[in-house]
Amino acid sequence: MKRIGVLTSGGDSPGMNAAIRAVVRKAIFHDLEVYGIYSGFAGLINGDIEKLDIGSVGDIIQRGGTKLYTARCEEFKTLEGQEKGIEQLKKFGIEGLVVIGGDGSFRGAQKLVEHGYPTIGVPGTIDNDIPGTDFTIGFDTALNTIIDAIDKIRDTATSHERTYVIEVMGRNAGDLALWSGLANGAETIMVPEVKDDMKDIVSRLKRGTDRGKKHSIIIVAEGVGSGVEIGKEIQDKTDLETRVTILGHIQRGGSPTAQDRVLASRLGAKAVEVLLAGDAGKMVGIENNQLVVHDIDDALSRKHSLDEKMYNLSKELSI
Ligand code: F6P
Repeated sequence: MKRIGVLTSGGDSPGMNAAIRAVVRKAIFHDLEVYGIYSGFAGLINGDIEKLDIGSVGDIIQRGGTKLYTARCEEFKTLEGQEKGIEQLKKFGIEGLVVIGGDGSFRGAQKLVEHGYPTIGVPGTIDNDIPGTDFTIGFDTALNTIIDAIDKIRDTATSHERTYVIEVMGRNAGDLALWSGLANGAETIMVPEVKDDMKDIVSRLKRGTDRGKKHSIIIVAEGVGSGVEIGKEIQDKTDLETRVTILGHIQRGGSPTAQDRVLASRLGAKAVEVLLAGDAGKMVGIENNQLVVHDIDDALSRKHSLDEKMYNLSKELSI
């Protein structure tokens, strides 16, 4: 293998730049040429591709977002789109590809593998919802952003003696809600993996008020439903003055934490090693702090699960 490509796809996540840097530098270290593909699979279809050198990935390890831009590409879900992409890869003489992104991006990578094209997936999403890795690139940074925001909201919640519903991202996964809720001592954490009974939530809030509690924080993962609706229901059923904050895309930006930079560097470099070893159709991940390699097919066929013990702990600590 002489020439590889790298792209980022789907929702961006802090640390993607560190992963791009690792892919480029590790490849060049092993005398490979590296081509950057801009705007994910859309750029692949359009041939928006250029050679990257060592300097082109300088000064990006600390930056959020992705230097290669990203997109969600409907066209690549079609056979025609995939064939156009493969044509471009052939035209540029790119023999293997590293795809950095979430499960949608992994599905795109899987299509390339089905067409016989060596592709490796690097998990990059704030949602932390990819089976086969304990952590995805960007999760830790998003978590710290959420924690910082909730700390600030708690100040005003305390001053005004209010109940706050805070909606966080995560698509169908509750990891961001659970981890941030545990880290912030939230009174209630609502995740899509567990069906909550509003009666329980209301009686918990009432028990708290009876004990003299003046404010409460309720974290709602977006996969559960609308934070605004949940806030209204809580106010109606408890008579507690309730406010709702939807944190939104602030969770996807910002300088990556040390944890994410290191994870991205390790996973990006590992992806190049896997390509060099002649493997295709794999994803790299981290389990028990060890780098691991799994079949993309296998990862995509499994369902991400929430850490049940951690969920139970959050309940025990927020009595
Ligand atoms: O997958 C990352 C993510 O931020 C999800 O948490 C969220 O549901 C989605 O992307 C939002 O996507 P978009 O930026 O396209 O609105």
